[in-house]
Amino acid sequence: MAIVQELLRYSRQYHRESMEIRRLTESDAESFRKLRLEALDREPTSFAESVEEFQNTSVEACAERLRSGGMDRFVFGAIEKFAIVGMAGFYRESHLKYRHKGRIWGVYVTEEYRGRGVGRALLTQLLQMNGAYIDEEHMMLELPLPCSIPA
Ligand SMILES: CC(C)(COP(=O)(O)OP(=O)(O)OC[C@H]1O[C@@H](n2cnc3c(N)ncnc32)[C@H](O)[C@@H]1OP(=O)(O)O)[C@@H](O)C(=O)NCCC(=O)NCCS
Repeated sequence: MAIVQELLRYSRQYHRESMEIRRLTESDAESFRKLRLEALDREPTSFAESVEEFQNTSVEACAERLRSGGMDRFVFGAIEKFAIVGMAGFYRESHLKYRHKGRIWGVYVTEEYRGRGVGRALLTQLLQMNGAYIDEEHMMLELPLPCSIPA
């Protein structure tokens, strides 16, 4: 039993070390679109957008979204062996009186990689990126239905 637990611990550690967490760029558009479609298809109750709606978003539109956000809109991805296995999006409210607020959307980790700290790592990086102008109290998580995710 102890050996199994040690192997599991090693495997989680290995995955953390071999995985890259970074902001997605326009060159990730195709993989981002594929993972978003998987998320909406497999976890429909976790997201406001439906597969049917997102299917109309082209790779070019995804590239534009990933290219143009500056510090106000971005998506972080967890990359393992050149594939995106997890993602978390962020946008800052655009109204002047709401600029101190931000929303986190589209948090998703593909099933095979769950339970290894990927979701936590994504949210940690995302909060570090915008922590300079939005404190945690003003960060909201978009959820269509009551559900729990790692804080
Ligand atoms: C929710 C999700 C992103 C978690 O990703 P993950 O990589 O498995 O999460 P982590 O391994 O980083 O877990 C971090 C912590 O959150 C907890 N956790 C993970 N998923 C959870 C869930 N669904 N409910 C409650 N706690 C959860 C873990 O136990 C862990 O806590 P610990 O460190 O105290 O043990 C993933 O399960 C997923 O994609 N779910 C489907 C989509 C979804 O629900 N998205 C969120 C709504 S937008």
